[in-house]
Amino acid sequence: MSLAVPIDRLLADAARHRARFGRPLVTLTYAQSLDGSIAAFRGSRLAMSGPESLSLTHQLRAAHDAILVGVGTMLVDKPLLNVRLAEGEDPQPVVLDSRLRLPLSECLLRGRKSPIWVVTTERADAQKQKALEAIGARVLRVPSDARGRVGLGGLLERLAALQVNSLMVEGGARVITSFLSEHLVDLVVITIVPVIVGGLHAVEGLVSSDGREAIDFDGFPQIQEPKIHEFPKIQEMEVQRLGKDLVVWGSVA
Ligand SMILES: NC(=O)c1ccc[n+]([C@@H]2O[C@H](COP(=O)([O-])OP(=O)(O)OC[C@H]3O[C@@H](n4cnc5c(N)ncnc54)[C@H](OP(=O)(O)O)[C@@H]3O)[C@@H](O)[C@H]2O)c1
Repeated sequence: MSLAVPIDRLLADAARHRARFGRPLVTLTYAQSLDGSIAAFRGSRLAMSGPESLSLTHQLRAAHDAILVGVGTMLVDKPLLNVRLAEGEDPQPVVLDSRLRLPLSECLLRGRKSPIWVVTTERADAQKQKALEAIGARVLRVPSDARGRVGLGGLLERLAALQVNSLMVEGGARVITSFLSEHLVDLVVITIVPVIVGGLHAVEGLVSSDGREAIDFDGFPQIQEPKIHEFPKIQEMEVQRLGKDLVVWGSVA
């Protein structure tokens, strides 16, 4: 059976990509409603995808070396981040958690084939690190960004050093927005589900309004309009119907 999304072709260059750029190839993938929501509200979980696109998600997981989510998603969805609905190996689970908020819950950490990598900053509590390590997590410290969160440049360098060629970023909204605003996404695979939710948007505020307000000749404030070239663009976007859902994919310019 041919795959709905040619995952192998998309990832064929991952090793070369890591060698050339010193960071893994990054695939952003998530399921959204027709209006761009990934949950009804932050802190709630909404299973939207049909069985066919869920199976694609698991095929994508199996095709990547590592899979990453933010601590927000871990606290709400508690995803297993493994491969159950397709053939193949589990990817290495990675969680971004600058303050080590991840609970010491056995179900999150124990019983995995490979321990979760919890990526945090220099400022995280050393005792909490020890406690997480005691129940099987591996804690990696990388430099923080200007907002005190895990710096994505340092994170990707570290993953490359750990032989990760391909990284699948699965969410949630803050993590998706960070990767896109820092132009660190190489491929997108987005499932669009035929429902309108009006909830938590997958992406918000990619271009900041700081410094965009100017005063025109008559003294009225005038906003400098963002230009389309400022936003990430999908090259040669492809679309496939999968059950009731649509899957959209392509590389990011
Ligand atoms: N439909 C889907 O496909 C899908 C997939 C995944 C999640 N979701 C939904 O998304 C929601 C969770 O999204 P969320 O935005 O609340 O949380 P999130 O994006 O999963 O995690 C965000 C948290 O990660 C930590 N973080 C560390 N470094 C970061 C960085 N560089 N950039 C961004 N975050 C960083 C921050 O917490 P600290 O400051 O404490 O480190 C931040 O608050 C849930 O409702 C979940 O159901 C939907």
